Amino acid sequence: MSSARVGAARPKSQIKVSRTGTSNYGSPRAMSRNEVVVGDSVEVMLGLPEASVDLVFADPPYNLQLANRLTRPDQSVVDAVDDDWDKFADFAAYDAFTRDWLAAARRAMKPNATIFVIGSYHNIFRVGAIMQDLGFWILNDIVWRKNNPMPNFRGRRFTNAHETLIWAARDASARNYTFHYDALKAGNEDCQMRSDWLLPICSGGERLKDSSGRKTHPTQKPEALLARIMLAATNPGDLVLDPFFGSGTTGAAARLLGRDYLGIEREQIYAAAARARIAAISPLPAEAVAPAPSKRNEPRIAFASVVEAGLVAPGATLTDAKGRHKAVVRADGALSIGAIVGSIHKTGALVQGLPACNGWTFWHFESGEGLAPIDDLRAVARARLRDAAE
Ligand SMILES: C[S@@+](CC[C@H](N)C(=O)[O-])C[C@H]1O[C@@H](n2cnc3c(N)ncnc32)[C@H](O)[C@@H]1O
Repeated sequence: MSSARVGAARPKSQIKVSRTGTSNYGSPRAMSRNEVVVGDSVEVMLGLPEASVDLVFADPPYNLQLANRLTRPDQSVVDAVDDDWDKFADFAAYDAFTRDWLAAARRAMKPNATIFVIGSYHNIFRVGAIMQDLGFWILNDIVWRKNNPMPNFRGRRFTNAHETLIWAARDASARNYTFHYDALKAGNEDCQMRSDWLLPICSGGERLKDSSGRKTHPTQKPEALLARIMLAATNPGDLVLDPFFGSGTTGAAARLLGRDYLGIEREQIYAAAARARIAAISPLPAEAVAPAPSKRNEPRIAFASVVEAGLVAPGATLTDAKGRHKAVVRADGALSIGAIVGSIHKTGALVQGLPACNGWTFWHFESGEGLAPIDDLRAVARARLRDAAE
């Protein structure tokens, strides 16, 4: 390991980054939180308790395979990733490394945990195939579109303006993984959050620099990217594992948002920079990061409960929003249309000739101020339940 101090100017040639690295992380030990462990990610992850982390974010070596120096038209050298940690003998060596760390990460994941892996065209297809081979269940591939990408200097290819994130569950049967669909939608002006995210690359004051103005880490990710991931797929207090911690972007976002983190980084100098960076962050107030109530998490209310609560009287007539279809509320919470009896959903589907229907939004009642969906009555029933529980 290098003994160079964080912040001290250090030419790249002095950064000792052996592929195997050395670990000061020995035998398995109790789960630690909010710590940066210096060591090899596979070795450290295998020392963690099984099924102990809520989310994995991994930004592994890209295997950029840079054969030559990259220069701009003015012949200045582009500060590309040419560190030893990104070098592998061949694709087979990269695949073996990828298989090892993904298997170790999967072992540490709780059954309902998910994983985000970020990569570029150099590695993400290999990573994705290996994830599927290991049993991960891909939920989305997310395109991080950079609104300020590095231009293509030689003009021989399209400007490489995005990176890809694979979001996956531990296995195909995982159902209760965290996804704050409603909160993301509310923050996106009531439109579903899409799988293409437009975010700037990390620059300006956020970019860690040493005393000579050189980037501390060549591939520092933007905190906004990590924040979006954590707000989407974790709750406050959840543990986020990052096996390739680098400059600690995951830790910075976790501390800001009231999540816990565990970072693994084999280079002392990056680990030290990450610790200093995270220590300088003040967590946001709890109410700014508490998960928004989600419709999915609300207690299930049957239409019969709405009737029993006296919110709609048996014998009352419900209609669709335009008053074209009519049904009568039965005392048992079903609806009848002549001789046909069924749930609010089945009768709604039937009158429209559709295979399915959300009866809560289809059927309306006379509220005194015009027609309103029976979903409003469900909201009243839910509020009463909440009040009674307090
Ligand atoms: C792509 S960078 C991660 C950058 C990070 N996301 C950030 O925002 O700063 C990958 C990091 O993984 C580290 N690394 C590579 N191989 C490793 C291994 N086997 N174990 C632990 N860390 C490793 C490298 O030193 C490098 O800092």
